[in-house]
Amino acid sequence: MKYLIANWKMNSIDIEEWQNRFNKTLKLNKDIEIIVCPNYLDIIKCSQQAPNLIMAAQDVSIHDDGPFTGQISAHQLSRSSEQLKYCLVGHSEVRFKGDSNSTVKKKSQKLEGCNINSILCVGEDESILNKGEREKFLLNQLDSYFQDGLCPKFIAYEPIWAIGTGIPADKKNIDDALKIISIFLKEKKLKKIPLLYGGSVSSKNVEEIMSSNILSGCLVGNASLDGEEFARIAEKL
Ligand code: PGA
Repeated sequence: MKYLIANWKMNSIDIEEWQNRFNKTLKLNKDIEIIVCPNYLDIIKCSQQAPNLIMAAQDVSIHDDGPFTGQISAHQLSRSSEQLKYCLVGHSEVRFKGDSNSTVKKKSQKLEGCNINSILCVGEDESILNKGEREKFLLNQLDSYFQDGLCPKFIAYEPIWAIGTGIPADKKNIDDALKIISIFLKEKKLKKIPLLYGGSVSSKNVEEIMSSNILSGCLVGNASLDGEEFARIAEKL
């Protein structure tokens, strides 16, 4: 089974047009689960306009209820749509806003309590990579997450230095990072969790990226905004 996730971030998407372009291009005859991450408001719109789409939220609050301006709880997410099965946690753009490893874990705990699966994002920035500290950094992100018996549905390796640049990580860097994650999971005797890659994936590079045989799929930002391009990626996955 392969997995392909579209992270629309805060981009404005005409859902009907996206779907038309996606469906027109897709001829899939393989087993792929497609997941779309719309903004909070579009989760409801997508449910109405695309009743077969499986969705993930982009973020969630660590709180259950109360005076937290601008936030949405896991419980509120779970009531928003039956098609909402997942939520991203630890995306670097949310970590930039201040989410620590312990916040990421708390968010996952809240989601688990509401039967929403977490998609855990991990990944280093360029200075960590250049200093040769990637392994230590990734292990720290993983270790703090997995302390209390939590289990995400997916782990996405998303090197910050490749996100939004148009240039994905090369195969060696992807393989090295995935190995670090796989060995960690094995040593901790955790069940097999599908590993994804994210960072400038497009229809032009997805085959090369997927040639890494530990990968089960991709998390796509920019190239997922056009339904036709996203379908081309799905075809090549
Ligand atoms: P990108 O974004 O494909 O635009 O690099 C990926 C992500 O941030 O998940």
